[in-house]
Amino acid sequence: MSISLRIEQALDQHFSRVETDGAPPRLLAAMRHAVFPGGARIRPQLCLAVATACADDAPALSNAAAIAMELLHCASLVHDDMPCFDNADLRRGQITVHKQFGEPLALLTGDALIILAYQALAHAGTRWPQRLAPLLQIVCDGTGAPDGIVAGQAWECEPKVALSQYQRAKTGALFVACTGAGAVAAGADPQPWRRLGECLGEAYQVADDIRDVMGQSLATGKPQGQDAHHGRPSSAADLGLLGAFGYFRELMQAAVDSVPACPARGMMQTLVRAESERLLPQRAREQITRGVAETGLA
Ligand code: IPE
Ligand code: IPE
Ligand code: MG
Ligand code: MG
Repeated sequence: MSISLRIEQALDQHFSRVETDGAPPRLLAAMRHAVFPGGARIRPQLCLAVATACADDAPALSNAAAIAMELLHCASLVHDDMPCFDNADLRRGQITVHKQFGEPLALLTGDALIILAYQALAHAGTRWPQRLAPLLQIVCDGTGAPDGIVAGQAWECEPKVALSQYQRAKTGALFVACTGAGAVAAGADPQPWRRLGECLGEAYQVADDIRDVMGQSLATGKPQGQDAHHGRPSSAADLGLLGAFGYFRELMQAAVDSVPACPARGMMQTLVRAESERLLPQRAREQITRGVAETGLA
């Protein structure tokens, strides 16, 4: 079975546990809207790729870790799109949850997806209880305070923030959690995989910043020019498009080099290179290097 199919099936199966007759139907519909259809599903793929590289001896647990990461990511996007954050109308090419279902349900949808993530871990973790505590620790580190998604979003409420600290918390921390959770779910040491998560996560946010100003030509499925509109720290604004692209390439190369020695090293490196190409396709790279990229930057 492909990794993508494995992720969709695991997500769908886990959803069916809460889709009972007693649940509020609009909440369930909003939760589905936030998760299906997915975006790139890069976080669960990364988690399962690391688990596979570590021999994946507990596939039900690695599935749970992978979908927990995706559910937490989806929850963060629902909240991020709300009027009190980025006030976005479009996500993954479709109308955002608060626009479709209203703000109260969007808030609750984010909350419910966070809890659904921990339910997945609790459910699968009963069979591997000794792996559950380190898994929970990793997930909390990637999502909460002081350095996870919540902290990253909260930096937007501070008068000053360093770009790299903001990006590491907002995006990088969950990638670190994905690699770590994949390793721990398979009974392996997460430490050797940490750098891969750090490099990929930072590269991912740099690419998102570039795509935010090149949205027209990259079809991102979300509004363009949001970073400038909201005055957010952005690599593209700090370094210029060419500088940000150079930094992205450095980070992606560091990600490729960081993959620990293991039989799956080649497979992992191929995955990272493919992701690099997906994030910034050749045409966009040419536009940046020729200085003819469409940009909302002054
Ligand atoms: C969007 O993440 C938010 C960032 C942290 C850059 P993705 O670009 O992975 O979003 P989806 O899941 O593919 O829609
Ligand atoms: C969202 O960051 C990342 C989260 C942690 C929620 P952005 O606001 O920069 O991402 P997009 O552009 O809306 O996907
Ligand atoms: Mg935001
Ligand atoms: Mg946003």
